[in-house]
Amino acid sequence: MQPQKKRDSWGSRLGIIMAVAGSAVGLGNFLRFPAKAASNGGGAFMIPYFVALFLLGIPLMWIEWTLGRFGGGFEHGTAPGIFHSIWQKNRFIKYFGVIGIFGPLIIFIYYVYIESWTLAYSFFALIGKCRALPDQAAMQSFLRGFQGLEVNQYFHGIHLAYLFFVITFILNIWVIYYGIKGGIERLCKRAMPLLFIFGLILLIRVVTLGTPDPDKPTWNILNGFGFLWNADFSALTSAKVWLEAAGQIFFTLSVGIGVILTYASYLSKGDDVVLSGLTASSTNELAEVILGSSIIIPAAFVFFGPIDIQSIAKSGVFNLGFVTMPLILNKLPWPVILSFIWFFLLFLAGLTSSVSLAQPAVAFLEDEFDITRKKAVVIFGVVVFILCQPVIFFLKNGVVDELDFWGGTFFLVLFATIETLLFAWVFGMEKAWDEIHKGADMQVPQVYKFIIKYITPLFLFFILGMWLWQEWLPIIFMKRVLPLDRVYILGTRIGLVLVFLILAALVKIAWGKKKIQKVRLG
Ligand code: ALA
Repeated sequence: MQPQKKRDSWGSRLGIIMAVAGSAVGLGNFLRFPAKAASNGGGAFMIPYFVALFLLGIPLMWIEWTLGRFGGGFEHGTAPGIFHSIWQKNRFIKYFGVIGIFGPLIIFIYYVYIESWTLAYSFFALIGKCRALPDQAAMQSFLRGFQGLEVNQYFHGIHLAYLFFVITFILNIWVIYYGIKGGIERLCKRAMPLLFIFGLILLIRVVTLGTPDPDKPTWNILNGFGFLWNADFSALTSAKVWLEAAGQIFFTLSVGIGVILTYASYLSKGDDVVLSGLTASSTNELAEVILGSSIIIPAAFVFFGPIDIQSIAKSGVFNLGFVTMPLILNKLPWPVILSFIWFFLLFLAGLTSSVSLAQPAVAFLEDEFDITRKKAVVIFGVVVFILCQPVIFFLKNGVVDELDFWGGTFFLVLFATIETLLFAWVFGMEKAWDEIHKGADMQVPQVYKFIIKYITPLFLFFILGMWLWQEWLPIIFMKRVLPLDRVYILGTRIGLVLVFLILAALVKIAWGKKKIQKVRLG
């Protein structure tokens, strides 16, 4: 019999908190959140946002930390094995767990490409490449040229974007190659403090903007915050606003993806999950609500005024991050340093998130096929590098949006629903409550027993139901897709189904092997 391979583990409690916070604090905090808040009722958006945080985000965070630690006790670091450990009698449950590897893998494929833009723009900031671009149109044209969407005076092809993609991809692979303690924990312990320092510098710079143009006294920073936070309560009657808030909570906390399950599987049985989970989530909320909301939108108001800000706020996350923000920073003293800080902050936020998205697939290969980490990382690297190519070359055909819808939105809610039902109803709330509190440094408020059992699943059913009702038909029949792009979207969907089926087949093979081994051992 081969000696059992020892699973990796975290070096310290601070290490896992930093790593989970690193996974959570990402592009979502600095780009997605301000864009969502500004276009969904401003201050009023915070009502559904906090409702979703307390009824979905925090319960799911505790569920995932607990399930992950439980599964790790059986040497399983991903959902197929973890779900199987919870419900051993059910032959099919492990296939539902495939979503917990599929989701992060699909998000990784496009996330790492967007992350590479932030590295490229950090470099452009240092060499002053976008320094002379005067307005939104020029900056937009620069971005489109860089992405290979058009040939223009700035770029003649996608070469530079591809180079930065390769560098970013190798950096990710390098970090996960060194494992949980030696790679991910080491990165997050260094990157997270730096990220907060960068965020604080930008926050102070924006808050002290005052009224830069004396001819436009109303274009000041106070009104900038007012634009973002003045509540439009009529927005609360729209179901879409509630769905957007719930979606943001999932995305920003990295719950429903599968990554927290995997990270928590490297904990020991007696390690606390209650306080650690809460600390990681609070760190994310601090980065989102305080830093994320105080940078782009208020600064854009000061420089573009109350009329233009309306369209800027709705112009999408890429425009905000890569067009509006560099224009603003160019107008301030020290533009080189400030622009570098902005883009490198995004890069650090992206990198600490993307390594967490890669980890479930690697852990699956290691745990269920008993291969070494290094071999697992090489297999992952080769396969995923190939899968990234359509994202890069068919960006203009809507491939990223399609992957984001399935990997980063739909399956996330579905997966969260399955996890909650398994935890509260199959494992059973009494047993689950005991499991959460093993080694706990604080007591979970009693009301969460009720919330996890009834409110969280009902809320999730409501969200799934609303989506099916509002979106199902237009999405399936590609009603909002341009006719020319339909073939690319169809191709993406076929690719997604194939990836899912291959992962399911791998689960079947792994369990088949385990069965044979069990029989052999008698
Ligand atoms: N939680 C990560 C983010 O906010 C994925 O970007």
